[in-house]
Amino acid sequence: MTHQTIELSGHRKRPVDGVSFRKPKKSDGADVWRLIAGTGKLDENSMYCNLLQCDHFADTCIIAELNGEIVGWISGYIQPDASKTFFVWQVAVSEKARGRGIAKRMLAELMRRKECAEIERVQTTITKDNDASWALFRSFAKQSGAELQDRPYFREDEHFDGEHDTEHMVTITFEDSVRIAFAA
Ligand code: COA
Repeated sequence: MTHQTIELSGHRKRPVDGVSFRKPKKSDGADVWRLIAGTGKLDENSMYCNLLQCDHFADTCIIAELNGEIVGWISGYIQPDASKTFFVWQVAVSEKARGRGIAKRMLAELMRRKECAEIERVQTTITKDNDASWALFRSFAKQSGAELQDRPYFREDEHFDGEHDTEHMVTITFEDSVRIAFAA
C-alpha cells in the first residue's frame, strides 16, 4: 500500500514532458468537439453537448495540453443518484500524444480534485472491441490497487435497437488508503 501511495503522489508533480492539466472553460467546447471527432473511434455528440460539459461540468472534466495545445479530454460526472460514484463518459487523446500516459494521468488528476474527495468508485462503459480503453482502465485500476469488475449493461438489442455494440459497465472500487492518497 505504501508503494501505491508513493506512485500516486508522484503524479501530483508538474509533468516534465510538456503536458499540463486543467479544468475546461466554455471557450474550449469547439476544440474538445474536434478532438473527439478526430479520434474516429468515439461517438460524436453535438458541439452544444461538449459546451455544456466544459461549462456546467468543468469540475469533473479535464483537459490535457501539450505545449499549450489541447490533446486530451475526459468528460465525467458524479452520478446524480450515487454521490460516491464518478462516471467517466468519454476519454480522448489525440493520436500524436498517445502512449505518454496522458489518459491515465488525466484519470488520476480528476480523482485528486477536491470535488472527488468522497469518490469510492469509478465507472465507465466499454465495448468489447476497444482494446485501448480496456488497457487504460485495467492499468488505472492496477495502479490504484483497485478491483475492476465488468458486466454487460447497455445491450445491443435491448437498449441500442441493434445500432451499437453492447457497452460493458466497468466498476473500479478503491480501497480507503488509495482514496486518501488521491485526496491528499
Ligand atoms: N492497445 C493496448 N494498450 C493500450 C493502447 C492500445 N491501443 N493504448 C493505451 N494502452 C495502454 C498503455 O500501454 C497503458 O498501459 P500501462 O499503464 O500498463 O503501460 C495504458 O493503456 C494507459 O495508456 P495511456 O498512455 O495513458 O493512454 P493514451 O494517453 O495513449 O490514451 C486512449 C488512450 C484510449 C484514450 C486513446 O488511445 C484514444 O483516445 N483512443 C480513441 C478514443 C477511445 O477509444 N477512447 C476510450 C473510450 S471512452
